[in-house]
Amino acid sequence: KQLSADSVLQLKLFSALSADLLSTNRSSVFSGHHGQLSLTAVFLDEYRDRLFLGGKDVIYSLLLGPTTSESKEIYWPPLPGNREDCIQTGKEPQMECANFVRLLQPYNRTHVLACGTGAFQPMCAFINVGHRGEHVFTMDPTNVENGRGKVPHDPSLPFASTFNGGELYTGLTADFLGRDSVIFRSMGGRSTMRTETDQKLLHDPKFIAAHLIPDNDDRDNDKVYFFFTEKATEAGDREGAIHTRVGRVCANDVGGQRVLVNKWSTFIKARLVCSVPGPHGIDTHFNQLGEMHANLLHLHTHLPPLINVFQGFAVCVYRMADIREAFNGPFAHKEGPDYQWGVYEGRVPYPRPGVCPSKITNQPGREFGSTKDFPDSVLQFARNHPLMWRPVYPALRQPVLVKANIPYKLKQIVVDRVEAEDGQYDVMFIGTDVGTVLKVIALHSGNSLETEEVTLEELQIFKVPTPITSMDISVKRQALYVGSPAGVAQVKLHRCETYGNACAECCLARDPYCAWDGSLCARYLPNSKRRFRRQDIRHGNPMLQCMDQKLSEELDVTEHRMAYATENNSTFLECVPRSPQATLTWLVQRDDRKDEVKLDDRMMSTDQGLLIRHVVRQDEGLYICRSREHGFTQTLARLTLEVLQGETVDELMARDNPGLAWMPCNAYSRASTSSQSRTWFKDIMQLIGPSKLPHVEEYCERMWCNDKLRRKHKSMLEKYRQAQESARKARSKSSVERNRMPRDLRAREE
Ligand SMILES: *[C@@H]1O[C@H](CO)[C@@H](O)[C@H](O)[C@H]1NC(C)=O
Ligand SMILES: *[C@@H]1O[C@H](CO)[C@@H](O)[C@H](O)[C@H]1NC(C)=O
Ligand SMILES: *[C@@H]1O[C@H](CO)[C@@H](O)[C@H](O)[C@H]1NC(C)=O
Ligand SMILES: *[C@@H]1O[C@H](CO)[C@@H](O)[C@H](O)[C@H]1NC(C)=O
Repeated sequence: KQLSADSVLQLKLFSALSADLLSTNRSSVFSGHHGQLSLTAVFLDEYRDRLFLGGKDVIYSLLLGPTTSESKEIYWPPLPGNREDCIQTGKEPQMECANFVRLLQPYNRTHVLACGTGAFQPMCAFINVGHRGEHVFTMDPTNVENGRGKVPHDPSLPFASTFNGGELYTGLTADFLGRDSVIFRSMGGRSTMRTETDQKLLHDPKFIAAHLIPDNDDRDNDKVYFFFTEKATEAGDREGAIHTRVGRVCANDVGGQRVLVNKWSTFIKARLVCSVPGPHGIDTHFNQLGEMHANLLHLHTHLPPLINVFQGFAVCVYRMADIREAFNGPFAHKEGPDYQWGVYEGRVPYPRPGVCPSKITNQPGREFGSTKDFPDSVLQFARNHPLMWRPVYPALRQPVLVKANIPYKLKQIVVDRVEAEDGQYDVMFIGTDVGTVLKVIALHSGNSLETEEVTLEELQIFKVPTPITSMDISVKRQALYVGSPAGVAQVKLHRCETYGNACAECCLARDPYCAWDGSLCARYLPNSKRRFRRQDIRHGNPMLQCMDQKLSEELDVTEHRMAYATENNSTFLECVPRSPQATLTWLVQRDDRKDEVKLDDRMMSTDQGLLIRHVVRQDEGLYICRSREHGFTQTLARLTLEVLQGETVDELMARDNPGLAWMPCNAYSRASTSSQSRTWFKDIMQLIGPSKLPHVEEYCERMWCNDKLRRKHKSMLEKYRQAQESARKARSKSSVERNRMPRDLRAREE
């Protein structure tokens, strides 16, 4: 019961919350030039200050400026005839037989490589994007190359790629039927490399990410790592078990001379474990919980190598050192079909498989300058023993974050390493399948292994519940680019001023980006000269930090709002704490008596406000919302609830009601509505309830969304604004104690 009521509320708040993000200029959304942008590829170019987006038959270039973002478009459909051929083979015309751009990689100083599915006939082309500072965006449609092995044929199949030294590394299925799973290297001067077709090497893999991660200063040791999930042959009787893997190849692998010609000779892989230690030594493994979305994050290259693999409800952090150790450890071995998997205890040939030809292998007497020099015994061993025996465990042997029993799935993760007063913090941005992004930090308390999870913010990025498919952080712009089928949003990483205007509030927020500077909650910059900085991320204790900062006076500035309900129906009194850790309490004041609101089936406190079902007249009164956190209490909202009787919503709707006429028909989809009308809009939403939402939309459409009526609407809006203005004047004249608006005024607002 609780859940369904909450999900209804969620729906109700979607429009309100995303509107808040938009109205504070914290977020802006790009949905393409034709409405729906079916986003399939993103490349954030920090150097050129551009964002490249690939979609269905289209590529966009967005110039990222401080205020505006100019956009250019290239229409890039499949080659002539290919769409028809695709349809002929029985594929779906809209969802499959188009050119879905899957790859956008920087190629050289002036060009970006783009590849698309080309209606099941992959193709690639170079886009001229010009030099830094100019907004050039052109493609020669006749100069198109075969994209086989560079992107999958099927737009729905998973795929990962990285571009390095003029060569493209891809993990994908490279055939029409989507069965040939390979790791490919193409382009550049050398011959194309691939994995052998063998389930020992790759067994129905789903590629997640690919990155070049150097071992050390010796470029000959550079390795390309692939992160994927696959069917685990070593799982034995647990048929169909899926394991998360890290696999790697040497960047200078050119295959063998007689065996493994143009095939990887250095490919090895290990299992990545993400589990919670349980009692009796039995761990809960996250990749056993059915189909999970594994995502990977590679921190900025200037940071210590660290990799987060993210599975369903757990976030695990792996150290590169641990990954390398697993690859340096024993190989897994299976004697024959009837044997168990075990550790390989025999002699490992030299050079050890997985080792790149380099200075170390190329010494007098042992001259292996290239993989072509590797003895056949090494290549045979590599071919038969691609899997390492030891898995890679996460740092501290447990996830940094576990979320259970949540009504959404986690789809994407990116991490920003932030300098704060007391050290560095990894701020995780987690994208869900319902269009939200959670901003989370995980804290270790003292020397214990326990982690405390602090949700700093929950951002509703998209108005509609839509899965988040990409996230990129621009350090330069301090912005997060969030992609979904609905479009791409630019969201500021922090908005310190929303944490309120008191030292205590700023401190309680525990946001590593923000600190109290003596007069404001503002962006914390570690090397700034300002002496007065108050921040307490670990404990969020304002008692210590803000002792001298006149606490109580500042904390009780709340505006007073009206709320409406229809008798026997539900209503929602919104009150969103500034910190997700705060608990809300509600008081109701009637006839000078203040009582705590008794919570039950009818009065439910949610983390975004109070839900009252089956409203009765006696519910009228002044509701006071307070939040409590770390012993601090502050008043967040005062709402006077008014219960309307007799008149049903349908009657309200049926009338050409001037009270509703202010509401712009595009209130749902545009950022341009004034914040005033938005608040009013929210009130109306509360009044009519979520089930009427489509009805309202329809009503808007009918009433105002044609030009003739739009003009009329405009003048009505003007009238409404005047009414609002006089209402505000009247209100400001009246005393603070007054809870109700005068009857005539209310009538006008209604
Ligand atoms: C948002 O940006 C626009 C245009 O730059 C500006 O006019 C407006 O005042 C800003 N709004 C807020 C709340 O900062
Ligand atoms: C980049 O590559 C494209 C495509 O091969 C080529 O036409 C162009 O001249 C190159 N630009 C530079 C600066 O090398
Ligand atoms: C409650 O609200 C719903 C939707 O707005 C409406 O259909 C219904 O008639 C209302 N019920 C009562 C008893 O007013
Ligand atoms: C609300 O319900 C009560 C009892 O069921 C009924 O007497 C009353 O008329 C209803 N009010 C409205 C406005 O529907």
